[in-house]
Amino acid sequence: MQSKHEWRTNMKLKINEIRAEEKALLDQQILNRLYTYEPYNTAETIGLTVAMKGEINTKEIIEKAWEDGKRVAVPKCDPKTKQMTFHYLTEWDQLESVYFGLEEPRPDQTALCPPEEINLLLVPGLIFDRHGFRIGFGGGYYDRYLKKYSNATVSLAYEFQLVEKVPTESFDLPVQAIITNEQIVNII
Ligand SMILES: Nc1ncnc2c1ncn2[C@@H]1O[C@H](COP(=O)(O)OP(=O)(O)OP(=O)(O)O)[C@@H](O)[C@H]1O
Ligand SMILES: [Mg+2]
Repeated sequence: MQSKHEWRTNMKLKINEIRAEEKALLDQQILNRLYTYEPYNTAETIGLTVAMKGEINTKEIIEKAWEDGKRVAVPKCDPKTKQMTFHYLTEWDQLESVYFGLEEPRPDQTALCPPEEINLLLVPGLIFDRHGFRIGFGGGYYDRYLKKYSNATVSLAYEFQLVEKVPTESFDLPVQAIITNEQIVNII
């Protein structure tokens, strides 16, 4: 079996191959399906990362969540401890560019959102299997966060990011559902 590192490299290449028009269409299909997803509709607060270029467009989700009267919390990573904290984002100006073009909440302008206040957490990842196991971007940030988070989780992915089985390690924690451009996979 390939190593997690090889999986990541290959999947990033595959994602980069999607043409812009195709990506816009797939993203829209995924978002439309998210908006029919019951845990999304009932969530008062959602937690999610601010998408970077090439990732599924979460900025649109944030705008829609604000319109729907939901609260939005976005993560701030601490590279030293590899822990992250979520902060309530109420306007775009509260974001700042940190490293590698990553956008994070300005801690002095945004209130802290403890894990129990998030009703639905959107967990990012590169590859997923039908057991909800995931290969993320390699920081271990979400695996650490999921240890102290006990509410609903879901991941958004292109259908081809769903595979038969991903290699897992003892600290990997699964998500409860995966929404793709073709289906909602509920992990039982
Ligand atoms: N709960 C944990 N406690 C301590 N270290 C952890 C924990 N989870 C993961 N790690 C460390 O983080 C590193 C990266 O983990 P992994 O390869 O699973 O990343 P990932 O799942 O792709 O990242 P992410 O969770 O940010 O999406 C691992 O080498 C591991 O040592
Ligand atoms: Mg992991």
